[in-house]
Amino acid sequence: MVCEGVSMRHKGYGTRVRGFAFTAVLLGVLGMAAMRGGVAATAQTTGMDASAKSSDPWWKHAVVYEIYPRSFQDSNGDGIGDLNGITSRLDYLKGLGIDAMWISPMYPSPQVDFGYDISNYEAVDPQYGTLADMDRLIAESKKHNIRVCLDMVLNHTSDKHQWFIDAASSRSNPKHDWYVWNDGKPANAPGVTPYQKRFEHDGMVPPNNWVSGFGGSAWEWVPAVHQFYYHEFYKQQPDLNWRNPAVEQAMFGAMRFWLDRGIAGFRLDAIPTLFEDPQLRDERETGGVNAQGDPNLDDSYTNNLPEVHDVIRRMRKMVEAYPGDRVLIGETYLPNTAELDKWYGGAAQDELQLPMDMLVGFHGDHDHLDAAKFRQHIEEAETQIHGAQPLFVFDNHDNVRAINRYGDGAHDAEINKLLAAVLFTTKATALMYYGEEIGMTTTTPTRKEDVKDPIGITGWPKEKGRDGERTPMQWTAGPQAGFSTNQHPWLPVAPNYKTVNVAVESKEPDSQLDWFKQLIELRRSNPALHSGSMTMLDTSSPSVLAYERTVEGQPAVVVAMNFTAQPQTISLDVPGTGVKTLATDDPTLKSATSLKNVTLAPFAAWVAAVQ
Ligand code: BGC
Repeated sequence: MVCEGVSMRHKGYGTRVRGFAFTAVLLGVLGMAAMRGGVAATAQTTGMDASAKSSDPWWKHAVVYEIYPRSFQDSNGDGIGDLNGITSRLDYLKGLGIDAMWISPMYPSPQVDFGYDISNYEAVDPQYGTLADMDRLIAESKKHNIRVCLDMVLNHTSDKHQWFIDAASSRSNPKHDWYVWNDGKPANAPGVTPYQKRFEHDGMVPPNNWVSGFGGSAWEWVPAVHQFYYHEFYKQQPDLNWRNPAVEQAMFGAMRFWLDRGIAGFRLDAIPTLFEDPQLRDERETGGVNAQGDPNLDDSYTNNLPEVHDVIRRMRKMVEAYPGDRVLIGETYLPNTAELDKWYGGAAQDELQLPMDMLVGFHGDHDHLDAAKFRQHIEEAETQIHGAQPLFVFDNHDNVRAINRYGDGAHDAEINKLLAAVLFTTKATALMYYGEEIGMTTTTPTRKEDVKDPIGITGWPKEKGRDGERTPMQWTAGPQAGFSTNQHPWLPVAPNYKTVNVAVESKEPDSQLDWFKQLIELRRSNPALHSGSMTMLDTSSPSVLAYERTVEGQPAVVVAMNFTAQPQTISLDVPGTGVKTLATDDPTLKSATSLKNVTLAPFAAWVAAVQ
C-alpha cells in the first residue's frame, strides 16, 4: 500500500507512518571541524560520546537479530519452525556475531495473525515447543553469550483469550471493561454514510468511521452484549482498554513472568496504538481508498496518543528494577525525529531505551538510495534525541525485504551490502532480520490460493500480504533448504535457495554472509566503530555517504559508500597520512593507501582505518 509516499505495503504500517515527509528541520553545523582540528570545514559531528565506556549497557552497541520462529528452523518435521530449532542454530548465530535475538511471538495463539493474536501470555504455543524448551533456549543462549528478547503484544489479545471470552459474555462480567466497547449509533442517525451502513447490526452502526489497519470497520458487533468492540487489527485481535488500571497490572504481570525467567527485554508490538480518543471522534478522510477498499484516514485519534507515555514510564521503572540492563525496544513507526524523541522520554530519557528509528531504513519515497536523505536522517537520529542511542533497522517480518525495496534489479547484492554497511558502521544499535545476512529476497505468492497472511487474501491482488518476507530460512542447497524435513513447509522455500544459503555462502569469501560477519566483527573489535563519535564527511555529495568514527587514542575509521550505479571518485579531508582498508566489497580498494582520489565502484562500500 502507498500512503503519502510511503511504500510500506500494508495498511497497519501505512497508518502509523502517515504524515512521514522529508520536511525535517535542517541540521545546524555544530562546529566540529574547529573542535577536531583539520576535519573538513563542511563536516558535522553526530556523536557525543568520545570513548567506549565499560559502564555502557549491553544493548548500546549490540546487534539484535529478529527471528520469526515459524520460519527459522523446524526441529520436529511438522513444517513449522520451533524453539528447539532456534536452539540448534545457536552456534551459527554466535558465529554471525549477534548479541541478542528477538523472537516474534511464540505464545499460545490461534495464529490468525501468526502469533500476534495471543491467547495466553504465560506459556508457549505447542507448535513452537514447551516452557521447558524456552528455558533451555534461554540457558543455552546465555552460554553462547546471546541474550533472548521476546515480543510483547500489549495493544490487543486474541479473541480466544479467556479475558475476552469473559468480556464478551456479558456487560456485567468483571472483564468486560478490559476491552474497548461502544453501543454504536442508530443506522438512521444523521450523517451515517453508506460505507458505515455496511457494518449495521440490529439497527446499529459503529460509533465512528475508524477503519481497521487490516481492512473493514475497526468495530465488531457482539450480539450477547449488544455492543461493538474496537480492533485496530484483525477482528480476532480486540484492543485492550488501557484506561482500566487492571489491564496494565495484568500485562505488567505477564512481562514479569518472562523477566523472572531471564529474558533480556521486549520488543513492544504496535506500541503507539495503546490508546484511542475517549470521545471516539471521526478520523479525517485523506482521500481515496486503500488496498482493502476502505477510505484512507488520518490516524490522530487512534495512534500515538500522549496518554501512552505515562504507561511507558511506569513500564520502564518496572523493567529497570531487574538487574542486567533489561531493554525495551519499541515498534515505533513515527512521522519524524521529534516524535521519536518523545518515545525515549525526551531529555528525561525515562521511557524506551530503544524505540526503532524507521525513518532511516524505511524511507517515504519508495525506498530509493539517496545519499543526502540518508545523511539527513542519520544526522537527525544522532543529534535530535537528547544524546540517546538510535536503533536502526532495514528489515522485518512486515515489509518487503530491503534488498528488494532498495534493489535496482541489477545491483541488488551490492545494495544489500551497502545497507549492511550503514547498519553496522553508524553509531546506532543495529537490528537485523533472519536471512538478511545471506541476501534472502521477498518471494510474494503469485496465486491467491497460496496466500497465508489474511490481509493478502482480503486485499488480493492489490495487497498480497506479508508471506513473501517470511519464507523459511535458507540453510543449505538440500531439500527444503535445510529448514525442515517436511516436504511441505508452512510457506514454500524461496526458489533461489540453491545459491542463496548459509552452507554455500560460508565457503565464499565475498558472500553476503562473509560481509555481514566481517562488519559485525569490526564493529565489535574496532574501538572507533564500536563506540566512537561520528562526523559526516563530504556533506554536500549527492552520491556518496561518508563519515568518520573517532575515539580518543585510537585510529579513526572512515566509511564511504557509493549510493549510485556509476563509479564515484572522492577525496576525504581527514587528518592522517594514509589508510588501511578494513573491509570493502570493491576489490580495487582492498589495497588503497590514501583518502585522495579514491574511486568507488557502483554501490561499493569501503571501511578504512586512518593511519
Ligand atoms: C506486527 C505485525 C502484526 C501487528 C498486529 C505489528 O506491528 O509486527 O506483524 O500483524 O503488529 O499485532
